[in-house]
Amino acid sequence: MKHLIDSENLNLDEINYLINSAQDIINNPIKYEDSCKRKILATLFYEPSTRTRLSFESAMLSLGGNYLGFHSSSSSSAMKGESIADTIRTVNAYSDIIAIRHPKEGSALVASQYSKIPVINAGDGGHQHPTQTLTDLLTITKTKGRLNNLRIAFCGDLKFGRTVHSLIKALSLYENNKIYLISPDELKIPNYLKEEVLIKKNIEFVETSSLEEYMHEFDILYMTRVQRERFFNEEDYVRLKDSYILTNAKLNTAKKDLGILHPLPRLNEISLEVDNDERAKYFEQVANGKFIRMALILRLLEV
Ligand code: CP
Repeated sequence: MKHLIDSENLNLDEINYLINSAQDIINNPIKYEDSCKRKILATLFYEPSTRTRLSFESAMLSLGGNYLGFHSSSSSSAMKGESIADTIRTVNAYSDIIAIRHPKEGSALVASQYSKIPVINAGDGGHQHPTQTLTDLLTITKTKGRLNNLRIAFCGDLKFGRTVHSLIKALSLYENNKIYLISPDELKIPNYLKEEVLIKKNIEFVETSSLEEYMHEFDILYMTRVQRERFFNEEDYVRLKDSYILTNAKLNTAKKDLGILHPLPRLNEISLEVDNDERAKYFEQVANGKFIRMALILRLLEV
């Protein structure tokens, strides 16, 4: 693996290696504190981010390296019309590895085609977010002890939610998982994922608009935000934004060892009262994001 652009770049061995490496980093942080000495990570964020950018930067600092970059297109020469290709060629001169987030699908792939150093997709439009997937896989592993034989529900904006798209692809590598797709009609998962991943790989799945109907069956409940920034009109967003709100009452029928995940940021879709439920794993998920990104940086830099 030279770059990480799509969760399709991850096979079972690669995922296992990264999860094991992240767990070793969690248990032995001092061992890694100089691993990336004199290495520089470039964080090129053309779109807003809190967790992904900061966890990448924190990861590199904890590995003894440094970082540079920009956190909006308006503070880079993209504002003057510079192409991704030219920006990437430039950043190759200043750094050892790149994490890029961009609103256009396919932009990270383009970046990788012009880069001699590793490129990591930190989110490209509504397409993919593979390092969130690694974060989610680590969190599921820590919560359930396995990545197979699970009943995993995705709820909310399955159309634009790139973290959902990436995670479903990765989960399709594991045996005997059942997937529940919970969304309003307008926000259903894209057909290509249903046909090319779920149906093609013979993965059992159900589509429903009800959060409560199958609640008692879930091992993992992955809530998502309705992605305002990807809507073409505000009216549709306002109509759909509060389609699902997870509350303590709705969790009454859920398993005692359910794991509740959310890539964050959260708006209304998980009520604040749920934060005190020990099944809520989304802030642990945030912390895991740093450790798995440390593992990924080490892997791509081969240090
Ligand atoms: N999960 C995630 O991508 O969060 P940010 O948008 O804050 O990076």
